[in-house]
Order: sequence, then C-alpha cells, then structure tokens
Amino acid sequence: MTSNTAANPRIEFFDMIANQWDGWHDLRELACNLDASLAMFGIDPDATVVDAGCGTGNLTVSLLNGTLGPCGRIVAVDISEKMLDLARRKVTDPRVAWHCGTADQLPLDDGTVDHVICFSSWPHFHDPAAVIREFRRVLRTGGALHILHLISRSEVNRIHAQAHPSVHHDILIPACETAKLLEMHGFRVITMTDDDSRYLITARKPG
Ligand SMILES: C[S@@+](CC[C@H](N)C(=O)[O-])C[C@H]1O[C@@H](n2cnc3c(N)ncnc32)[C@H](O)[C@@H]1O
Repeated sequence: MTSNTAANPRIEFFDMIANQWDGWHDLRELACNLDASLAMFGIDPDATVVDAGCGTGNLTVSLLNGTLGPCGRIVAVDISEKMLDLARRKVTDPRVAWHCGTADQLPLDDGTVDHVICFSSWPHFHDPAAVIREFRRVLRTGGALHILHLISRSEVNRIHAQAHPSVHHDILIPACETAKLLEMHGFRVITMTDDDSRYLITARKPG
C-alpha cells in the first residue's frame, strides 16, 4: 500500500473495481439520462467544465458528444489511476485534460471554470468543506456547481453500505443539508431535487 492509499483507502477500492465499472451500467441508457441532465445545466458550448470524480469518463463522453463545441474544455479529475487509464483509452479527444488527484486540489487557476459537475462522486469526498472551497476558488463569478446522482439518495446509501468498508461511511446527506453547507461556504443554491429517482443540487458562485 502506498502512502496515498493509506491516506485515502478509497483509491485502492476504486482501482480494484475500475475494470468492472462500465459493465455494471447500461451505458446507452446512462448517456440518455446524462444528456437530459446536462440539457438543464445551461452549459455554453465554449465552457470550461470540471468533471470531479470522473471515473471511467462517462460524463465526459456526454459533455463532448452533446454539450460542448470545438472550443469547450473539460478537466477530468479522479484519485484512481485505474479509472483514469480506462477513461483515457475511451476518450482521446484533445478537449479533455485528465488529471490524477483529489477534488480539493485542482490543477486550475482561480476563476477559470464555468461549471463543476460531481456525478456520483460527492459522498466520496472525505473533506466536503475543503472540496467546496476549492470549487469556489476555481469557478468564475456566476459559475455553477452541480451535484448529481441518477438514483435516489437511499439507493446511493444502500449501495455504499453494502460495498467495501472504505466507502461504508460515504453517506449522501439530504440535499437540504448539502445546500446549507454550500451556502455556508458562499454558494447560492439555485435548484435542489432529492426524490425517488435523482439527487441534484445546482449552486452558483455569486458576484
Ligand atoms: C462512484 S464513482 C463515479 C465515477 C463516475 N463519475 C461515474 O459516475 O461513472 C466515484 C469516483 O470518484 C472518485 N473519487 C473519490 N474520491 C475522490 C476525490 N477526493 N477526488 C477525486 N475523485 C475522487 C473515485 O475514484 C471514483 O472514480
């Protein structure tokens, strides 16, 4: 075990499941559902987007195929080298910069990002306050953070409770509590859904 995996045992877990990840999903159906969500986010074709906790790159694929134009840009970040290896093999588009690292230390200058999207990754961020501060740092004024799960909160928590011990405590808290945390750190919450089929919070960095 390296010092990184000792510091964050999720790295070992996500490395371990990386090869199985896409096989656990119907990628065609996932793409349709992601496209529908992305259509609501108001992403400009020239936007710079962070895919935080990108895994094997499925959100990035949807952003490239249906949302961003030739001048759009994605910085896709994950702690798992194995997930990133698969993502890099899947997507060779020059609009994407892949980065192995944690969401609370992004390789980006202040105020340079239009949207940060956390798709199925938020509860795994073990220091959410640090992550929120980092997202606020990199977002431009008026830029948006989207926290998205395409299943219910109870389903997310059931899956984590039955998975590897490293994620047993990665609990997705009610959207109204996440919203409070975001507002405490200077975001303005715009939309919030926490129902039987999805969890979505969109918050903006106010001027
Ligand atoms: C449940 S998977 C979701 C992957 C991808 N977003 C998807 O839905 O297909 C969560 C991902 O978040 C990554 N992750 C966990 N903690 C992280 C952190 N602190 N910073 C960046 N990525 C992280 C994991 O390595 C994993 O790939």
